[in-house]
Amino acid sequence: MSENQTDLKGHTILLGVTGSIAAYKAADLTSRLTELGAEVYPVMTEAACRLITPLTLQTLARRPAMSDLWAEGSSWQPGHIELADKADLLLVAPASADCLARFAHGLASDLLGSIHLATRAPVLLAPAMNGKMLEHAATQENISLLRARGYHFVDPVEGRLACGYEGLGKLAPVEEILAQVRMMLA
Ligand SMILES: Cc1cc2nc3c(=O)[nH]c(=O)nc-3n(C[C@H](O)[C@H](O)[C@H](O)COP(=O)(O)O)c2cc1C
Repeated sequence: MSENQTDLKGHTILLGVTGSIAAYKAADLTSRLTELGAEVYPVMTEAACRLITPLTLQTLARRPAMSDLWAEGSSWQPGHIELADKADLLLVAPASADCLARFAHGLASDLLGSIHLATRAPVLLAPAMNGKMLEHAATQENISLLRARGYHFVDPVEGRLACGYEGLGKLAPVEEILAQVRMMLA
């Protein structure tokens, strides 16, 4: 085991996963963060659940992957508030264009959006989308708004996109996301 292998021990990370084709990379991220000692709570949007199975993240995180705002347990406190309060970091990877818009405008219509408004943990976003979606003025304005609000980003990179185009919009490499997480939690 390398000396850095457990350096996220004691940290609680809410891992938001949204409906980008890069959602499958969240499995690797979940596995690596867990290996590094973090307590990972996967929070999936409905669209993410159509692209990868919650069972994959649940198995790798060793705890249920949540997606339903209304699936309350037996606690008196709403689940999304409990989760929001315990987070040291809200990481969303991949972050869809729609998620960026919801965060920028404070929409809380699903579990991830509700947690996002309720938490005071720092937020790290790793967008992934088609290059034209990324370039769109609406997306760019949402990103600027979130940056101005102090949100952290792991910017998308250039490459071959799943939609068939080449260009900017690919999810940053998992290693880069991990490095940013470590820096923020150090
Ligand atoms: C196969 C497929 C791949 C998609 N990939 C992306 C993507 O990479 N980035 C993105 O922003 N939207 C993508 N979308 C569209 C989103 O899934 C859609 O906007 C959805 O409403 C996002 O919801 P969410 O933000 O709640 O996960 C994709 C849709 C499909 C059907």
